[in-house]
Amino acid sequence: MMKCATRTVFANKDFDGAIRDGADELKKGGLVVFPTETVYGLGANALSPEAVKNIFFAKGRPQDNPLIVHIAEQGQLDGLVTEVNDMACALMDAFWPGPLSIVMKKTDVIPPEVSAGLETVAVRMPDNDIARGIIALAGVPVAAPSANTSGKPSPTLAMHAYEDLCGRVPLIIDGGPCRVGVESTVVDMTGEVPLVLRPGDITPEMIAQVAGDVRVHPSIMGEVEAGEVCASPGMKYKHYSPEAKVTVLTGDKKEVAKTVNTMYHNGRTQGKKTAVLCLDDCAELYPDIKYIVFLGKDAHGAEAALFRVLREMDDQNFEAVLFHAQEEKMGLAVMNRIIRAAGHEIISVKEEKV
Ligand code: TXA
Ligand code: MG
Repeated sequence: MMKCATRTVFANKDFDGAIRDGADELKKGGLVVFPTETVYGLGANALSPEAVKNIFFAKGRPQDNPLIVHIAEQGQLDGLVTEVNDMACALMDAFWPGPLSIVMKKTDVIPPEVSAGLETVAVRMPDNDIARGIIALAGVPVAAPSANTSGKPSPTLAMHAYEDLCGRVPLIIDGGPCRVGVESTVVDMTGEVPLVLRPGDITPEMIAQVAGDVRVHPSIMGEVEAGEVCASPGMKYKHYSPEAKVTVLTGDKKEVAKTVNTMYHNGRTQGKKTAVLCLDDCAELYPDIKYIVFLGKDAHGAEAALFRVLREMDDQNFEAVLFHAQEEKMGLAVMNRIIRAAGHEIISVKEEKV
C-alpha cells in the first residue's frame, strides 16, 4: 500500500467545493471518505475494478466481503441489476433515500471485485446531500464500505476515519456527525420474502409493513457456525471490537443493575478501569458509578452514540465495559453490534428466587 497525503475538506464551509473535490477524486479512480446518514463511507468508482481493489487494501478488508453500491437517484440503478421486483420497488419508494441496502441479482456491469464473486449486489441511496451530491457529479455508482480499518467500529465522525485511514486515502470530506450512527439495514430481495441480513435503523417491522412479510436471518444474533453458508459474508467476521473487554448484561432492569454494580465495584477493587454503558432511564440505578456513559433514551439515541462511545472507551484506555442492555428499547441493530463487540460475552441475569 502506497502512503499518500490525506487532505480533509469541510463541507459546511464550502459545500460546492467539497462536492467537486470528491467527484474529481472518484473520476480519477481515487478513494474518497464521505459522510452518509449512517456512517462514513470509503468510496471508489464501482465500475472500476482497479479503484475498488484499493478500498480493500486501504481497509485491510478480506476480499471475500462484498461492497454496497451507492447511487444518487433511481435512474442510476438501470443496468446494474437484472430485475427490480415489485416488492423491491415498494421498499425503494418507502425508504430511499435512506439507510436500506437492497440485495438484488447483478448484471456483468458490476465487477466481481465489488460483489466478491457473488451473483448479487447490494444497492442503496444514502439520505445525505453531500453523499448524493458527490455521486451525482461523479456520474458513476460508488462502492463504499464503512470508512474504518477492518476490526474497528464504523466511523460516525470524520475524525474517526482520519484516525484509521490517514496516509491511506487522499481525501476526507467532513460533513459532521452521522445522524443514524449504525450501518444500513441489508435486506435480500432475491427470494419470495424479504430477508434481513444485517439489522439497522430500518427495522424488520418497518419492512414488513411495506412488503407484507419479512424474515430475519438467524445469524444476526448468533455465531455463524464453522462451515455454515453465510448469507451476508460480513457477518462472519468479528466486528467492532474495542480493546476493552465488553460484557453485555440482559434481563430484568433492576436485577441487571445489581449485577452491574457488583461487577463494577469488583473491577475497580482489582484496579481495572471499568465503565458502565446504559440508557438514560437507568441513571437512578447507578448513583455511585464514576465512569458511566448514557446512550440516550431509545434505539435512535443508542444507535447514534454507540460507535463513538466504543471508540472513546479505547481512547481512554478502559479495560472493562459493562453494557446494561435493554433489548426492547435498544432494538435489534444496537443489540447485534454490541454482541459482536463483546465477542459473545453475554450474561443473562435471572431474577432472584425468593
Ligand atoms: O450504512 C452502510 O451500509 C455503510 C455506508 C457507508 O453506506 N456501508 C457499510 O458497508 O456498512 P460495509 O461494507 O461495511 O458493510 C456491507 C455489508 C457487509 O456485511 C456485506 O457482507 C453485506 O453488506 N453485503 C454487501 N453486498 C452483499 C451481497 N451481495 N449479499 C449479501 N450481503 C452483502
Ligand atoms: Mg463495515
